[in-house]
Amino acid sequence: MIVAIDGPAGAGKSSVARGVAAALGFTYLDTGALYRTIALAALQQGIAPSDGPALGALAGATAIELDGVRVLMDGRDVSERIRDADVTELVSVISAHPAVRSALLLHQQHAASSGDIVIEGRDIGTAVAPDAAVKVFLTASPEERARRRAAQLGLPMDADTLKELAEDLAARDRADETRASSPLTRAADAIEMDTTDMTQEEVIAAIVELTRRAAPRG
Ligand code: DC
Repeated sequence: MIVAIDGPAGAGKSSVARGVAAALGFTYLDTGALYRTIALAALQQGIAPSDGPALGALAGATAIELDGVRVLMDGRDVSERIRDADVTELVSVISAHPAVRSALLLHQQHAASSGDIVIEGRDIGTAVAPDAAVKVFLTASPEERARRRAAQLGLPMDADTLKELAEDLAARDRADETRASSPLTRAADAIEMDTTDMTQEEVIAAIVELTRRAAPRG
């Protein structure tokens, strides 16, 4: 059974998806980590962000292992490195190339075929797992998303920091929403959840409940 969780940057998808997977005993796949790993590989190998064919080949040739917590790129632990600002800045451009998306789609579909899984990203309900049993589109107000991102990065909650984070998130959302190849968008049959005034535990409980209701009985 597949639970697809999509939504804009900073809506709390990762923490929620991890919590849902833990509560249900499902595996967890963070697809953003795949795109981040290719962005890091491109940085390290000096491949131009505009070179779609080279980036597609890179995505096909890079071994990425995810175990729910750690991310290994060709055997090296890059779990923390892929969260750095230079990777975050580059990742939307890298992930817009169709050749990159199709190489990583294979990786994601392989993972999705292996049983009960919570998959988190931007195009899971629309492109990666359109038949997912549960599809949720998580949102939150821009102000709340900036606060959550500051907390995640351990940054102060002052007005300047929050403003800068909100601008970064908005720029990344614009890039993710307007790309031609499987853009960030809510699947027609996804349930939209505005989590602005919800705690993480409430969001997790709501998705766990949706999943239990969707599960075949017997
Ligand atoms: O979830 P995240 O912030 O780690 O994702 C990083 C970027 O990867 C995001 O800005 C767009 C891209 N991405 C994507 O295009 N499709 C996905 N399924 C997941 C992430």
